[in-house]
Amino acid sequence: MLEQLLAFVEQEMLISTTQILTISLSFQEHMTKGLSGLASSLKMFPSYLGAPSGGETGTFLAFDFGGSNVRAALVDLKGEGNYLEFYRQSRPLANPETGYDYRDEAVTAAELFDFLAGIIQEVLNKAPVRPTHCSLLTGPLPLGFAFSFPYRQQRIGEGVLLHWDKEVKTSGVAGKDVGCLLNDALSRCGLDQDVKPTAIINDTVATYLTAAYGDPGIEIASIIGTGHNSCYLEPRVPNFESPILINTESGNFSAAPTTFYDLILDQQSENPGEQLFEKKLSGKYLGELLRIIVLDFSQRGVLKLMLPPRWHTPYDVNGKDLALILTEKADLDLNSSIRSGSEGLILQRIAHLLTKRSARLAAASFIGIVQHLDPYFENPHTIAVDGSLYEKMPGYAQEIRAALNDGLGTKSDLIKVRLSSGSSLTGAAIAAALVSLNANNSTRVPQR
Ligand code: BGC
Repeated sequence: MLEQLLAFVEQEMLISTTQILTISLSFQEHMTKGLSGLASSLKMFPSYLGAPSGGETGTFLAFDFGGSNVRAALVDLKGEGNYLEFYRQSRPLANPETGYDYRDEAVTAAELFDFLAGIIQEVLNKAPVRPTHCSLLTGPLPLGFAFSFPYRQQRIGEGVLLHWDKEVKTSGVAGKDVGCLLNDALSRCGLDQDVKPTAIINDTVATYLTAAYGDPGIEIASIIGTGHNSCYLEPRVPNFESPILINTESGNFSAAPTTFYDLILDQQSENPGEQLFEKKLSGKYLGELLRIIVLDFSQRGVLKLMLPPRWHTPYDVNGKDLALILTEKADLDLNSSIRSGSEGLILQRIAHLLTKRSARLAAASFIGIVQHLDPYFENPHTIAVDGSLYEKMPGYAQEIRAALNDGLGTKSDLIKVRLSSGSSLTGAAIAAALVSLNANNSTRVPQR
């Protein structure tokens, strides 16, 4: 019975070569529709930035708010991919030890943004002299803000939050411009003369900018971590004069196969019906899917065991646990090594299915983007990837490569996927630099 059920789940989770191609084609269709303003699960948001030239230099403030930690630093851009980061400050959004949680619904927008402005203030307090972004210029230091939630913008300094995800629920932010909220908080702590938020970018755009700062061949960037999303450089955007980066918000892509377990996870989630691709693919959800499957096996009586309490609490089994299970370092207790012949081997099979499916789905979306840019696969394409799942999950990068080979055969040699880790702060600084250059007579920031 157990074998039969496992074989059924294996079949359901399998993304065959044909499916890789079907998914990539629908991804491409959703991109085209989204770009033309038609109804699509891909929002295709213009980022109002193009590719960096590599010649951007100067000192900028960089701020990154996208997951459980908030970070700020001064970044000195030196050109051609070189930079130095100073006085980095990092704070968790929630700290059970000191009892705060800025993700909570009871917290107001002003409270959250005062906390964020405080982190920026700490960076400035560390600097021995008041930093300026260029020795010839005074005035406020330009700040680039990597904000990794779905937001709409009509200019580079604006970001109207559509809705929170990744467990953040702070009140009064959805529908507001996070650039204004940050500006107001900086004024409240007396920093408005010192700092000016000038660019708001998604973390995929930050990854792109950092990778492309030293490698002009980059065309696509993706985050495969707690969340998932990809951006790419679109050569032809209606109403824009030059190529610009498009944030696809691919976590919301809706046309990938859905299993019984995906439906359960979605129905029990905070945002049913939304972020369906992310829910099959990203680190936040893989542990939860494993928990839901194991719980179901146990409730059906095919796995005869007492599940430890963590298996009864949503999101208590996470991506890190999955990695430990895959490397035989954890069994159901999640802290003791798997003994061969035990239920641990079943866990391993399920964990493997889930990570393999995730990698194949990500690869299918990459093929969709490349197909859009180069329908006959005639040119080389480089994809920069950041995120803990891609970087740390055993075998994950290899599964992506295998899926690209399955889908594209020998043409897959044209696609290079490379790690670009920890790029949000640098990318935010490069975004601020691009905006400053534009303000000082360059035309790098594309205009509608
Ligand atoms: C957000 C994206 C973000 C991605 C990776 C998703 O949950 O909607 O905006 O780029 O996570 O952090």
